[in-house]
Amino acid sequence: MQTNHFSGRNLSTRLGLLLAAVSNATILALAQPTNSVPTEPTNPVPTLQIKADQITTKVSPMLYGLMTEEINYSYEGGLYGELVRNRSFKANPASAVFWNVVGNGVISLDTNQPLNSALDLSLKLDTSKASENSPVGIANGGYWGIPVRPNTTYHASFYARGKGFTGPLTVALIRTNGETALASALVPRITKQWRKYEVTLTTGEITPSKGNQLVISTTQPGTFWSRHGTVWFSQVSLFPPTFNHRVNGNRPDLMQLLADMQPKFLRFPGGNYLEGNTLSNRFNWKNTVGNISQRPGHRDDGWGYWSTDGLGLLEFLEWCEDLHMQPLLAVYAGYSMHQQHVTPGPDLTPYVQDALDEIEYVTGDTNTTWGAQRAKDGHPAPFPLEYVEVGNEDLFDRSHSYNDRFAQFFDAIKTKYPDLQVIATTPVTNREPDLIDEHYYRSQEEMEAHALDYDSRSRTNKTKVFVGEWATRVGAPTPNMAGALGDAAWMTGMERNSDIVLMASYAPLFVNVSPGGMQWKTDLIGYDALNSYGSPAYYAQKMFSTHHGDTVLATDSQDIPTFPWQPPARRRDGVEQPRPPEQQIRTLFFDATRDSQSGIIYLKVVNSLGTPQPVKVEISGAAAIEAEGEAVVLKADSPDDTNSIQEPDKIVPVTEKVDGLGTDFTREFPPYSITILELKAK
Ligand code: AHR
Repeated sequence: MQTNHFSGRNLSTRLGLLLAAVSNATILALAQPTNSVPTEPTNPVPTLQIKADQITTKVSPMLYGLMTEEINYSYEGGLYGELVRNRSFKANPASAVFWNVVGNGVISLDTNQPLNSALDLSLKLDTSKASENSPVGIANGGYWGIPVRPNTTYHASFYARGKGFTGPLTVALIRTNGETALASALVPRITKQWRKYEVTLTTGEITPSKGNQLVISTTQPGTFWSRHGTVWFSQVSLFPPTFNHRVNGNRPDLMQLLADMQPKFLRFPGGNYLEGNTLSNRFNWKNTVGNISQRPGHRDDGWGYWSTDGLGLLEFLEWCEDLHMQPLLAVYAGYSMHQQHVTPGPDLTPYVQDALDEIEYVTGDTNTTWGAQRAKDGHPAPFPLEYVEVGNEDLFDRSHSYNDRFAQFFDAIKTKYPDLQVIATTPVTNREPDLIDEHYYRSQEEMEAHALDYDSRSRTNKTKVFVGEWATRVGAPTPNMAGALGDAAWMTGMERNSDIVLMASYAPLFVNVSPGGMQWKTDLIGYDALNSYGSPAYYAQKMFSTHHGDTVLATDSQDIPTFPWQPPARRRDGVEQPRPPEQQIRTLFFDATRDSQSGIIYLKVVNSLGTPQPVKVEISGAAAIEAEGEAVVLKADSPDDTNSIQEPDKIVPVTEKVDGLGTDFTREFPPYSITILELKAK
């Protein structure tokens, strides 16, 4: 991982740097107010050449995908539909966190009444002080609120058993600061033995809100004979309608935002979430499949909270199915972040076997052990699988065991599944991985400074590149326009070089923007319990992902303005390294691709400056270009401008008709903008 914090450079500093770098004539032209266009620019107009008859490579069909893990409440409190927080009471063994008592009830965690060995803690409620006018019960406020919408049916369920208590229980959605039930249902009778109870809660004409709780309560202190009742609860759950109506499914608005990006693959389950800080808190896939009431859950210690594993291996695969993405399965490779590693050789064999079993669960037919388990779990058809990644960021393993760990996984996977593409997380010397996963977290300037790196990458290496995590880390919780500009500059480089960069996925994908929801800043999509939005960087991704055609065209350029930039000093092994020399950064980035079916040429242009840039475009190798075309433009008045829950659509792409196109034309690209010009070639 390479990270760097945004330098905070603002428009005037940036202009100042630019002015220092260009000729006097240019200074005159650029020293205009931000929005005024120099009428007679004396600096040379940058020229972009597109050679429409020279295809340099195919656009990789796997650009672009998604990377995901349980971070920033991405699943629980995010994509996963569950609305009850700490539904299995295991988030904190010492107290029933996120649960409140209603009325004069008394609640406590109980280890003596487990539902089963996986859900080995229950919530005990003493009902003896309940009365007609003073109900007692339990209440859960969800993940920073429970969202409730009008005319919507919610599915509530819980396990319960009573002692000296037979019910009834009322299940209701209630405003946190009021008593009015937005929806309620009655469970008439509770048995002595554990049983699952399910009700539906349907709202009427109400205003959407998130300040609500799920309340389960009673006015009965106990049975007629005892009056001292106790009721135990396990796995208390509330689901809203989900995407594609999946049981145990996902939040529709977030799924729709993802669907709109047309992602080609999903890298899961991490990231640090795959590895855990310790071996025991890794993503142990076998604990994440089957009936959700049999999943023990685990502490996501990398990011500091409990996961019920309700979104487990099968749910990841169904998520892929719903969005027509390929799964890119990362398998645990025997390294956890607190420097725990499994010694290659016999000690590692069970972990390699776990990975083979996992691949069988994904791809095996129902005659295989794990294919049969998948069918039993509800999905008889195997899933397609082409890519398996061995571990995550194993460069951090200070025992340097990855070379041999990777070899052991690689050999076993290739022997059983020769067609699978096996991805390494850091360079290895004794095997030739199909791909290597490179991670880049950078400031806007660093992203721009490196945007041309892949142009000069050696083509002799058989191992291709998967940029499995990358982001311009500017803006929190979600990136601002500066982030989108850095990302777009970087994407032009990946796209132009997609003979070697086969796949790319931005990270992290999600953040719950409620106070305390974020562990890692600069995340593509933000949300709270009720609403969600795409950041400017999200829209940049969406634009690139939906406009890349299938071939890359040869391009050239002249007179691209630059500004000087001093790369930051880095520390290695705690020692400050010498500062790298100053370098020039371009202010304009571009690439050109073509759709071979329609003939449309997509010219992507990124103007990172706060001034309009006139650009001359020359297209050779095409008989003609129609004068009329389309432009999709994402722009902002300031690099700091961003989207948010309050202003979700402040910066969104706008599609406009354009005229005056041809094989030779000049177009002015707006300040702080990303433009995709669709040119119709004849
Ligand atoms: O994306 C956040 C984290 O960054 C990932 O979990 C990890 O792989 C990387 O260090």
